[in-house]
Formats: sequence, C-alpha cells, structure tokens
Amino acid sequence: MATLKEKLAEKIPAWRERAGKLVNKHGDRAISGVTIQQAYGGMRGVKGLVCDTSLVDPQKGLIIRGIPLKDLVHKMPEEIFYLLCTGELPDKAGLKSLQDEMSAKAKVPGYVFKVLDAMPEDSHPMVLLDTGILCMERESVFKKKYDEGVAKGEYWESTLDDSITLMARLPAVAAYVYRRRFKKGGPIDPDPKLDWGANYAHMLGVSDDPEFANFMRLYLVLHCDHEGGNVSAFTCRTVNSALSDLYYALSAGLNGLAGPLHGLANQECLGFVLGILEKHGNKVPSDDQLKKFVWDTLNSGRVIPGYGHAVLRATDPRFSAFLDFGKRVCPEDPAFKVVERLFTLVPDILMEHGKAKNPWPNVDAGSGSLLYHFGMKEFPYYTVPFGVSRAMGLCSQAVEARAMMTPITRPKSVVTDWIEKEVGM
Ligand SMILES: CC(C)(COP(=O)(O)OP(=O)(O)OC[C@H]1O[C@@H](n2cnc3c(N)ncnc32)[C@H](O)[C@@H]1OP(=O)(O)O)[C@@H](O)C(=O)NCCC(=O)NCCS
Repeated sequence: MATLKEKLAEKIPAWRERAGKLVNKHGDRAISGVTIQQAYGGMRGVKGLVCDTSLVDPQKGLIIRGIPLKDLVHKMPEEIFYLLCTGELPDKAGLKSLQDEMSAKAKVPGYVFKVLDAMPEDSHPMVLLDTGILCMERESVFKKKYDEGVAKGEYWESTLDDSITLMARLPAVAAYVYRRRFKKGGPIDPDPKLDWGANYAHMLGVSDDPEFANFMRLYLVLHCDHEGGNVSAFTCRTVNSALSDLYYALSAGLNGLAGPLHGLANQECLGFVLGILEKHGNKVPSDDQLKKFVWDTLNSGRVIPGYGHAVLRATDPRFSAFLDFGKRVCPEDPAFKVVERLFTLVPDILMEHGKAKNPWPNVDAGSGSLLYHFGMKEFPYYTVPFGVSRAMGLCSQAVEARAMMTPITRPKSVVTDWIEKEVGM
C-alpha cells in the first residue's frame, strides 16, 4: 500500500528524468506550428502544453492516464483522483488512506459560511462557490511553505496538501451554496461514514433515492478532467504557474468554467429541453415537432446546447455514460426522453446545417436532465457539481506542474502590424 503522497514521491524522480532527457536531447524540435487563423482563433489545435493527467482523443473522447473513460465509469471519484495524480489506480488500502485524509480535512471553517451568507441573495451559485474557495486562501499550506523558503523541488507536496483539503471541503461548500441560494432550509451535516460522492449527495438533501448517490459518483467521475488546454484548466494552470496557490488558481479556473460556452452549457441544455416540453404541453413531442424546434433554434441564430466540441469529433463517452444511466434508472422521465430523442435527430440536422465541426453530443447534453429527474430543479446550480468534479483535474494538473517544476506560463503575443508585415500586406 502507498498513500497518494508516497506514490507520487516514488514516481516523480522518474517523471523529471524523462522530461529532462526529452528537453536536453530534443529541446529545439518543433511539435507544432501556429497559423494566422489559429492566432486569431483561440489557438485551436496548437500543441503548446504538456498535460499527463488526461487526453481528449477526437474519436475516443477522454482518456485518463492511458485508460479510456468508458472503462472507469464504475470507479469511485477518489480512485480517479489518485489515478489522475499518479497514473495508477489505488489498491484498497491506498484508497482508504486517501478517503481518511479527506474526511480528516473536510471541516469547512465557519467564516466561509458567514461570507456566503453576506453575499447578495441573487448571486450566481458559481460566484458563491468560487468566493467560498477564495476566502479560504489563508489556509494554504503551499503559501506557508513558500514563505518559509521550502525548495522548489518540494512545492508539489504542499500543492497536494492544498488539493486534498480543497477537494475534501468542496462538497460541503457546494451543498451549502445550493441550500442557501435556493432556500432549502439549513445545511445538512456531512456523514463521516459516507464516501466523497455519496456525502455530497447527502448534504444536498435533494433525494432519498439510493440511485442519487450512485448518480453523484458517476457525475463526479465523468467531469473530472479534460486535458490541459480547455478554459478552466488552462486558466488554473496559468494562475498557478505564477505560484499563486491553489485557492487562487482553482477559483480562477472555475470562474472560466462558469462561462456559457464551457461549464454553464449544462444549465442551458436543460433550459433547452424544458423549453421543448413546455412548448408541447409538457409532453414528449413527436420527432417532426422536435426537428422543427431544432431548426427554428438554428434559424434564429442560436446554437443547440450540448452539441459540438472544440476537440471531440464523435459522441462524447461521458454523454453515453449518462444515457446508459438514464436508460437504467429513469427511462420514462419526460426530460430524459427528450434528451434521448434529440440524440437520434440533432446530429443529422447539424450536419445538414453545415456549420458545427462536430455534430455529436457532449457531456452537457444529458447531465442536466438526470439532475432534474432526481429533483434538483434549479438549473443555475448545475455548473457547481461540474466544478466540484473538475477540481480533481485542475488540482491534479497543478500537482503535476509543481512536480515537474514547470515555469511560469508566458506565451508571446504579437500585434496585427507584425502579422501584416510577415505576410507582406
Ligand atoms: C462547444 C463549442 C463552444 C465549440 O466551439 P467551436 O470549437 O468554435 O465549434 P466549431 O468550430 O464547430 O464552430 C463552427 C461554427 O459552428 C457553430 N456551431 C458549433 N456548435 C454548434 C451547435 N451546437 N449548434 C449550432 N451551431 C454550432 C459555431 O457557432 C460556429 O459558427 P460561426 O462560424 O457562425 O461562429 C460549440 O460547439 C458550441 O457553442 N456548442 C454549444 C454549447 C455547448 O454545448 N457547450 C459545451 C461544451 S462542452
């Protein structure tokens, strides 16, 4: 058995040696170029980062440390965090030691709730989550160690300490946000006997259905990471590269997740599905009615939420996992049924429409309908569990970056005059 820290301590020297060899032997070899279109177009496809926690294959979707997500959907989120950090799934004892450490660190300081209570009542749940994280910054072990002058090679240890503390506390902060923001009554105490995902489900107090805990575990596994260049991951790693500790960096990354083209899309997806039901007398419409609704949306210049992706070019395996869950647990739920029907219709319509490079569903197309099924009807909240899950990826990427002693991020920008001169315009 190895604790997460022991396993990392065992692996990091070899990772450093491997990267050092590559840089020493092949450091000046180009692995990517940048076209003018890419420079103006969000750097899409430019290979300029190393992230070993996970990779998004255009066809296969998310692959975590070499293992396709579809082979991990029955794991616990804590196992996935261990895998993201180390490249190995924990054995039973390794998992137990991580869970015990998380339980020991789970108590959220009382001032966090006071800060959240002082926020305006209509603050977006993501603002509350990120504020809750940021106001705990004074607790950072990394910051303390840095101020004490700890050596650079050891930064990863205190970054891991901060990661585990943050992850341990996030479900309680996130559940508090839900219950306060949507007036669900007082907070529900954590149950120390429960695992991370089940405890989050318990503290939300949304449903007594035992499948809800299973759903939260699945939700937390599926949203855990999506390589290094997406908005939240890139933001988090950039902020953390300045050696701003994880409290700063994680809240910054999650602020990016709050955007409608990123994590907020799941709230928009459910709005889309409910809009369909509402327009058709709360009944699942016929395929022809659905097709018309989709075309009307496109023709009015709007996107179909939950479809398309910057990297994926196939059905997102995370969507497939939610679809399988819904088919097992709530096949007759009207919102879920609409999601299922849309999946059979939208890709062909988007292909005919001819704009989206990827006509297939992404993770957000299905997750909201399942949260809704379990009784969580407040869809402005939906990005929050996404954020709790994505903290696993952002934190493990930060541990990796500090383990590899990655320097401050500083790509070069150019001015339009320079580009014009380069091309002779
Ligand atoms: C995810 C997303 C932001 C990726 O953006 P992207 O990489 O720029 O996507 P593309 O290169 O395929 O975009 C090309 C065009 O297709 C359009 N397009 C992409 N996805 C679309 C969709 N779901 N519905 C309609 N049009 C879409 C884009 O708006 C763009 O149109 P434009 O040329 O008029 O600006 C985009 O697909 C989208 O907005 N999807 C809906 C929101 C969503 O589901 N977000 C969650 C992401 S996990």
